[in-house]
Amino acid sequence: MSVKASPLLEVTALNVHFGGTSLIPAFAGPTLRAVNGVSLTVMPGETLGLVGESGSGKSTLGRAILRIGDLTSGEILFDGTDMARATVGDLARLRRQTAMIFQDPYGALNPRMRVGEAIAEVLRVHRKVPRDKIGARVAELLNLVGLDEGYARSRPVDLSGGQCQRVGIARALAVEPKLIVADECVAALDVSIQGQIINLLMDLRERIGMAIIFIAHDLAIVRRLCDRVAVMYLGRIVEIGPTEQVFTDPSHPYTASLLRAIPDIDPDKGLPANPLTGEPPSPLALPCGCAFHPRCPKALPQCSTGEPPSLEGVGPHRAACILPPGEITI
Ligand SMILES: Nc1ncnc2c1ncn2[C@@H]1O[C@H](COP(=O)(O)OP(=O)(O)O)[C@@H](O)[C@H]1O
Ligand SMILES: [Mg+2]
Repeated sequence: MSVKASPLLEVTALNVHFGGTSLIPAFAGPTLRAVNGVSLTVMPGETLGLVGESGSGKSTLGRAILRIGDLTSGEILFDGTDMARATVGDLARLRRQTAMIFQDPYGALNPRMRVGEAIAEVLRVHRKVPRDKIGARVAELLNLVGLDEGYARSRPVDLSGGQCQRVGIARALAVEPKLIVADECVAALDVSIQGQIINLLMDLRERIGMAIIFIAHDLAIVRRLCDRVAVMYLGRIVEIGPTEQVFTDPSHPYTASLLRAIPDIDPDKGLPANPLTGEPPSPLALPCGCAFHPRCPKALPQCSTGEPPSLEGVGPHRAACILPPGEITI
């Protein structure tokens, strides 16, 4: 797939902090740094995986990028416009050109609305097609996600989880998005349905050329679907790079630990020992230095002091670790 040279999305030093403010300073609680200085780019048509344990800030980052959630500071250039400082007109354009697919396929749909009406609503709000063409476009979108157009008359309660997720994707596609954020969009589905939905997304990506930020727990799916992958830990990206490079040659001990925890395909080998023990520390009280140092099997004394290591660097594959890449094998 050929991609244009300039990024579709360019996020710089993005922070999303919760709490910590009060009219009376003495009553200000601790600040929760859910997203802590994140920078990343997404090229047109590219699929970027976003992985990391629960609570690492993936959903908060995805929501802030689409301006569905608030942000504290930073820059979000979408097609050259800073959406962190968007005007009403800019935000309307962002809504027309982006969409989010959520984990819970039922929760994302209004239970009282028929499927066709739910999709038509998006087409009307964004004035995508003339009124007399809406019915035909709804049928087309249903077909695109592999549902017979007769489903337009169904309500969410009549559908399976997989069918509901297809309707959610059809709704997302109704805006003809340049960027989709898919947040754990197959996690709630059976494995066979997961495969169908992933194949559908891959097929649509080829046909429509949209970029996808694919948030997922399942590293095997990320490996199959994503061009590049970013690994988040406690609000920061600790490693980013082309998917195969990150999977075969992880450069951060956290990534290496996550990969070690994937069950091997070979049944004779049994389950690997999970090197990631315990929970991540609370984002309300981030450890000094590298936030991963208390759990890191490779930590050196200097990892627990000073500033966290930076992700800056040359080349597409970068990690925020002071150890040379050859020394992080876990
Ligand atoms: N609206 C909110 N108010 C306060 N804390 C929040 C809010 N949303 C998320 N958080 C916290 O931010 C951190 C990151 O959460 P989240 O983005 O949901 O992580 P992930 O999607 O990686 O599991 C968590 O500690 C979570 O409890
Ligand atoms: Mg999440």
